[in-house]
Amino acid sequence: MKKISIKGTGCYLPERIVPNSYFEKIVDTSDQWIISRTGIQERRMVLPGQALSDIALPACEKALEMAGLSACDLDLIVVGTSTPDMPTPSTGCFLQHRLGAKNAVAFDISAACPGFIYGLTIAQKFMQDGSHRHALVVGGEIISPRIDYQDRATCVLFGDGAGAVVLGHSNGDGEGEILSTEIHSDGSLWGLLNVPGGGSLHPPSKEMVEAGLHYIKMQGNEVFKHAVRFMSDAVRKVMEGCGITSRQVDWFIPHQANLRIMEAVAKQVEIPIEKVIITVHKYGNTSVATIPTALDEAFRSGQIQKGDLILTASFGAGFTWGAALFRM
Ligand code: ACO
Repeated sequence: MKKISIKGTGCYLPERIVPNSYFEKIVDTSDQWIISRTGIQERRMVLPGQALSDIALPACEKALEMAGLSACDLDLIVVGTSTPDMPTPSTGCFLQHRLGAKNAVAFDISAACPGFIYGLTIAQKFMQDGSHRHALVVGGEIISPRIDYQDRATCVLFGDGAGAVVLGHSNGDGEGEILSTEIHSDGSLWGLLNVPGGGSLHPPSKEMVEAGLHYIKMQGNEVFKHAVRFMSDAVRKVMEGCGITSRQVDWFIPHQANLRIMEAVAKQVEIPIEKVIITVHKYGNTSVATIPTALDEAFRSGQIQKGDLILTASFGAGFTWGAALFRM
């Protein structure tokens, strides 16, 4: 089986900055409450008319450029998202077309926030037998239209963004190598976090929109508890599977949902907070985009160096969760 490596990373965050003060004007909240309960100071949101492929495209182009590859070199595009451009066709197909990746097969996966770790796992399996040489794994979300701006418990949490990595076969020096991934799901817990409207159960209709079924529904406290437990479990499993201890990890990139969740997971798995990459203060929770955007930013800024051992973990609606260990 061939080993798979990360060859390039890229990200794009919309230019429009929405500070906590925006929510102070529309719901009963405060900058101080949001920061103390979530760590979020501001987030990015798209402008009306921008679709997921609009913000994912520059992230993909940057990842390809870093990898030294052209779009024609890609034979697989996997997009993790819950907010595609359209219900059909897939945003993967839009990206294939817009990149000119005419040799790739492209599709989306729906796994909520851990969709990026799911995407890495799926791409790795396509590539291990040598049948696919280069893959683009994208995590992107435009959550801002799915937020109920009258629900103070959810509207302050989310932001829009996109990140991507290009994968290729390892050249044997360990650089960029994916050591292991873990993915899990438990559909019995779907009721704690979902967007009920817009699918086949509650198809788009005036009544569905008037009932607010197209908005994120969440039981925050329950989500919080499960997030800490499931992410910690996945981290332990992925480390055990590779015979790696938390002391060997150079950087931990947890899903950036809430600073307190990240702190709790880091404590449970004995990783000092100084080793945790944090972007939630400036981007909020961008769902599936949090890990690839944080990875790209930290790598390009020099915080993460080539050869560093990176641990990631995520959690989201389903429930779905997972973890991955790789070298940069
Ligand atoms: N401003 C002021 N008060 C608020 C706000 C707000 N924005 N939101 C909730 N409150 C109030 C509540 O109404 C409640 O008031 P009450 O006691 O009078 O009823 C009080 O604050 C406490 O509410 P809790 O829900 O207990 O507050 P908590 O400390 O749990 O924080 C939060 C809420 C931030 C939502 C937290 O539960 C959380 O982060 N949960 C995880 C959410 C998450 O990460 N979701 C996404 C994961 S999956 C994904 O990424 C898609």
